[in-house]
Amino acid sequence: MTSHTFAHLGPLRGTIRVPGDKSISHRALMFAGLAVGRSRITGLLEGEDVLATAAAMRQFGADIIRSDDGTWTVHGAGVGSLLEPKQALDMGNSGTSTRLLMGLVASHAITATFVGDASLSGRPMNRVIAPLAQMGASIEASPGGTLPLMLRGAAPAVPIAYRLPVASAQVKSAVLLAGLNTPGITRVIEPVPTRDHTERMLTGFGAKLDVTQEGGERIIAIHGEADLKPMDVTVPGDPSSAAFFMVAASIVPGSDLTIRNVGLNPTRAGLLEVLRQMGANITEVDAREVGGEPVADLRVRHANLTGIDIDPALAPSMIDEFPVLFVAAALASGTTRTTGLEELRVKESDRLAAMAAALRLAGARVEEHEDGLTIQGTGGEPLSGTPAGASVATRLDHRIAMSMAVAGLASRHGVSVDDTAPINTSFPTFMGLLEEAGQ
Ligand code: S3P
Repeated sequence: MTSHTFAHLGPLRGTIRVPGDKSISHRALMFAGLAVGRSRITGLLEGEDVLATAAAMRQFGADIIRSDDGTWTVHGAGVGSLLEPKQALDMGNSGTSTRLLMGLVASHAITATFVGDASLSGRPMNRVIAPLAQMGASIEASPGGTLPLMLRGAAPAVPIAYRLPVASAQVKSAVLLAGLNTPGITRVIEPVPTRDHTERMLTGFGAKLDVTQEGGERIIAIHGEADLKPMDVTVPGDPSSAAFFMVAASIVPGSDLTIRNVGLNPTRAGLLEVLRQMGANITEVDAREVGGEPVADLRVRHANLTGIDIDPALAPSMIDEFPVLFVAAALASGTTRTTGLEELRVKESDRLAAMAAALRLAGARVEEHEDGLTIQGTGGEPLSGTPAGASVATRLDHRIAMSMAVAGLASRHGVSVDDTAPINTSFPTFMGLLEEAGQ
């Protein structure tokens, strides 16, 4: 464990560039790894989670090479032609790798074993096991439907129409990936829209995919036994990584920070909307398209934030941003209330419990409920920080570590975090960028 104390650095100024989007990076490697021919990926996030996906795709037979200039070249194995992995697939901390690749294996005549770290091994997999079993896969999971698990794919698999019981892009994507090698048409019905990177990118790789709306629901139909064509992908910057700097520059007086290359897909941009509702001063500069996704540079200046009641309908579009939003709320004037956030309890950690404990230790006033937190802000006064000798528990969760690093910037005595190593799963350049912006 690598502990670290994050303290006030002075205003955040200048220009930084956030690394590639984690969700899009996983998908780029998976789909390029299935396309016959050569794809090139630039801007790929080189965090541990994405590297776990790359290692798994190599085991399935894809040829994946990184050049010194950071370009990744992939020769895919072909839908229907995956090799059986010789070893267990080590998914590390990555729920996205696990759930999406389970979908991929489910419709191939191969068996794969999935293992992960202590955090991932506690996360629910029944949400993907249920639809994949309907499609014919057989799965032997650990008690409670967790990793380690062994999945034997079905060939041919059976096409299904599956209504998502939880708003989850990972479950949606698992079923669509299984549908790629399934005869006929596989459908996913989404009562609540979630991030749509799978749909956008699969279409780019030549899959036939129809998206329609019916009675307020989104229906995604994928035509199976697809042949994916290779493609060059430019990965836009990750809004979930930018989020830490959006909040940091908003709460540290004197800040004026430009964050370049931020993906602003509407299914991901909820935090921007919520921060603006709280009074943040964030402008979009040079709006453009990168890799089929809307992108802009964000100029963020310090502002006095005001607490609000956050509309639970926005949750899916900012599901990974709540930990750092709670930090913004802790520095705002008045009360912020969040509800409808049960899903946060099954992320890399129980993020409601982890953030309630961490913020309280740093001096914030927080009430924890079954489905959200209520936070009384300081009105811009710095938090006291963690008491001498005490540190916040990261719980193998990168976003808890980075959120509390941001809290440290707005604290009197600094915030000590017990383990910063998990930051490498999604944002290996975080510590360097924080120093750069604070100078
Ligand atoms: C992701 C979907 C979300 C998100 C995760 C990445 C994805 O999970 O929390 O970090 O890439 O599809 P759920 O699908 O479980 O909501």
